Parts: sequence; C-alpha cells; structure tokens
Amino acid sequence: MTSRNLPAKPASVPGQQMLIGGQWRPSVSGKTFETFDPATGRKICDVAEGDKADIDLAVAAARSAFETGPWRRMSASERGRILYRLADLVESHKEELAALESLDNGKPVRDSLAADLPLTIKCYRYYAGWADKIQGRTIPVDGDYFCYTRHEPVGVVGQVIPWNFPLLMQAWKWGPALASGCTLVLKPAEQTPLTALRIARLAQEAGVPDGVINVVPGFGPTAGAALTGHMDVDKVAFTGEHTTGRLVMEAAARSNLKRVSLELGGKSPNIIFADADLDAAIEGAYFGLFFNQGQCCCAGSRLFVEERVHDEVVARLVERSKSSRVGDPFHPGTTQGPQVSREQQERVLRYIGAGQREGARLLTGGKAPQGEGFFVEPTVFDQVRDDMTIAREEIFGPVMNVLSFKDIDEVIRRGNETMFGLAAAVWTRDIRKANRVAHELRAGTVWVNCYDVFDAAAPFGGFKMSGIGRELGEYALQLYTEVKTVTVAGG
Ligand code: NAI
Ligand code: MG
Repeated sequence: MTSRNLPAKPASVPGQQMLIGGQWRPSVSGKTFETFDPATGRKICDVAEGDKADIDLAVAAARSAFETGPWRRMSASERGRILYRLADLVESHKEELAALESLDNGKPVRDSLAADLPLTIKCYRYYAGWADKIQGRTIPVDGDYFCYTRHEPVGVVGQVIPWNFPLLMQAWKWGPALASGCTLVLKPAEQTPLTALRIARLAQEAGVPDGVINVVPGFGPTAGAALTGHMDVDKVAFTGEHTTGRLVMEAAARSNLKRVSLELGGKSPNIIFADADLDAAIEGAYFGLFFNQGQCCCAGSRLFVEERVHDEVVARLVERSKSSRVGDPFHPGTTQGPQVSREQQERVLRYIGAGQREGARLLTGGKAPQGEGFFVEPTVFDQVRDDMTIAREEIFGPVMNVLSFKDIDEVIRRGNETMFGLAAAVWTRDIRKANRVAHELRAGTVWVNCYDVFDAAAPFGGFKMSGIGRELGEYALQLYTEVKTVTVAGG
C-alpha cells in the first residue's frame, strides 16, 4: 500500500496462459501477445493468444460441462453458494485486483478501488442470490391439463467484453450466466486481459467446476469471430462498438441463429435546465463525461445547456476541468489516467481535430501532454452543432461537447436525434419537466438530477443502435434462460 492506503503498482506480472476445461495452458499455436501499461506504453507481460483452435477446445469443454457436468444439475442454492464464495474472494483480493486493473487499463487506482471493485463484488453477490430464485409459472390452460414453465439455462454461452471496465463487464456477463446454470467461454479485450484471468483463478478456488468457465484471450477478428460464429455456442453476449456488434449479429445469423445480446455505444444527452441546482448539475456533467477518462458507453457526451445559464455553466465547467490532475494512475492525487491504448489516444485526438475543423470552439485542453503514456488533456468544446462529427459519433475520451438550447420541446427533439439510445440525464427542480423528458427520450436509462448511478439490481441497456437486451437486474436472467412449457395430461 502507498500513501492514503492505495494499492501500489504491481512490480511485475508473470506471463499468462488461458483456461480451458479447468486446465491452464498455452495457445494451440504457441502464439502470445503483449499487454501494455498505458501510463508508460511499456509491455506488462505476454499472454497466450487464442484463435479458432483454442475456441473450439474451449467450446467443447463448456459443452461437456453443460451436458454432463454437475453445474446444471446441482441444487440451485449450491450454485448460489459458490457464487457467494466468488464474491467473497473478489472482496478479499480487492486491492490486488484494483492494482491489476489500473495497471492494465490505466484508470486511477483510487477509482478502481472506489467504483469498479465494489460494483463487481455487488454484481456477483446479487446474482448469487438469484441462483435459487429463477422460477417458472403454473398456467391455467383449458381442459384437463396441468401446465407449467421452467426457466432453463440457455446452454453454452460465448461472451466478448471490452477494455473500459474489464472486471465489471466480466461480472455483468458471468453473474447471470452462472446463476442460471449456463457454462461459458469468455474472450476478454486484447488491451486488458489480466483481471479476467485472475478472476478465473478465483472462480476455480470458489469451487466452480472444470469447464464451466473458460477464458480465451486473443483478438476480435480471430478468437472473437470464432466464438461468435461457432455452431455449438447457444448464445453470445457482446459489449463494444456498434460496428462490431453488427459483425457479431451477422456471425450469429450465419452460423446457428444463436441468441444475441448487445451492449453498444451511445451519444447520451445530458440536459441542464436553467432551474436546476447548478452546483449539482455542473459536478454531474463533469463526472458524467470525464469519469474513466471519458471511456464510458453512457458518457454524457452531448451536454445540452439552457441558453439562460449557458455562459455560467460553461465557465464553471472549464474551471472544473482545469482542476483535473492528469497523470500516473497510482499517484493518490490523480483524477485522470491515460486512454487505454495508443490507438484510442490517436482516435480521440482525431475527433478533437474534427471538432476544431468543423468550427466548434475549443475552450480548454485539446492535446496530448508531453511525455510517455497515452494521455489526452481534459477537453471542452463549446458552440457545438448537432451536425458536427463530435456531436454524432462516440468519442470515448475526455472531450466534452456543449450545445445550447432554448426550450423543452427543442431539447427533447434534438436529444433524440441520434442513432443511439443508451442513456440520458436531466437536471431540473421541476418534477413535471423531469418526468416529461425522462419519458420522451428514447434511451434505456434516464438519470434525473444524477449521473452514472449504477446498481446490480437496476437493468441497463440500449434503445435503437445502442443494443439489444438488458443486462443487470432480474431482466438479465432472460438473456441466459430458455422458457420451457410443460403440459401434463390429467392435471
Ligand atoms: P471493439 O468493439 O472492437 O472491441 C470490443 C471487444 O470486441 C474486444 O474484446 C474485441 O476483441 C472484440 N472484437 C473485435 N472485433 C470482433 C469481431 N469481429 N468479432 C468478435 N469480437 C470482436 O472496440 P474497440 O476497437 O476496442 O474500441 C473502438 C471504439 O468502440 C471505442 O472508441 C468506443 O467508441 C467503442 N467502444 C464502446 C464500448 C462500450 O462499452 N459500449 C467499449 C469499448 C469500445
Ligand atoms: Mg493493457
């Protein structure tokens, strides 16, 4: 532990293998890839690189664990007990996991410890509680029949997750899948494979039987595509970019029509009315955009400010963003770390360039600071128009875009003028305005006078091109179960 009780940067991480059928092993090809520390750009370690041959083995292991293993047949409460043990193990390793997450992803370790870890632990614990509460119905059909439904596990599940919240995305995927009695193959993001592999070891320690969880690190077009197009995978769950989501859906359609759930991007409107508590709204707007280096699918990246308070809000937001401390994720004072990769840093800088070329007004930031690592300065654009690239596309970086509006009808219309529909927020003291905006915006989550409030019990997912299906809460169980109707004569 360093000062203020934050975990220290891990001195070294050994090379990593993959987990298939309970065995830790190198890839079939023997190939490895490097994972990098985004704060320095230096290699952390080599990781076994999975491809189609490894995915085939992992799917076969998951299939055999599903068909003949104990997982699906054990008492549901026993599955729940194993998941509670996993939650406890994650909790007792939280400093180690927070440090590993920050090393691989670059997020401030303070945030890993305060946000990612508690949400991850809660998610496993929440779904542990569901394991023995997944139940069907008895149905009063006509005639002399007894009719009931069973909610059975969907089978072998393929899961592909991104790099922005590696531990948390794994928990969102594993919690409901495991509680339902599915077996699974996870492909973590190539930028951040380390915590997924560590959690897999903890799951083994918790007593998850061999073959129930399989983790195959590797790249999207190889390992990812092999998994999503596999003929023996019953369902695929994906989080990432919408263009990749389209490939995942195509692969599912071309193979065995496997079930698909997608959690894709957003361009979420965050709306500040003049009658809002401006202190709270400004803090919420700052946090809702800059949290996690702006790498959030639900980032409030279209900030609509009512004209009457526009100048004040913008001035205070610029001040607020100048108080960010960009730097080493393991320094206790750091509030913003690097972007996850050189590629993401360059992508964000290209968007900043587009904003400048298309006539938005750059008020602060806009550059990569001197020195090593994939950092981008906290950036604020004012006078952003709806048709600008930075107002339409997901930037996934610390770039705030301010648009001004005159009245509620206008802001609802403009808020909805996007292909996305993941999240939105509204800040006002008028409950009627808040309700109207909350109901008329086409988005899967609307926050009123708050932002980024997440809970394992509250469903999350997108309207329109932000995705298909809802993760978290009871709703996520629908993604991992099939409803079976049983009709018995002589009821
Ligand atoms: P991505 O969508 O390519 O990657 C996400 C995951 O999908 C990774 O595990 C990757 O290996 C896998 N993948 C890639 N191609 C695949 C394929 N053909 N078949 C199966 N799996 C595949 O996202 P990327 O390139 O890392 O980031 C690009 C942009 O995507 C970001 O700038 C951001 O705008 C958006 N994004 C959105 C996320 C979200 O939470 N909604 C998360 C990550 C990225
Ligand atoms: Mg990395």
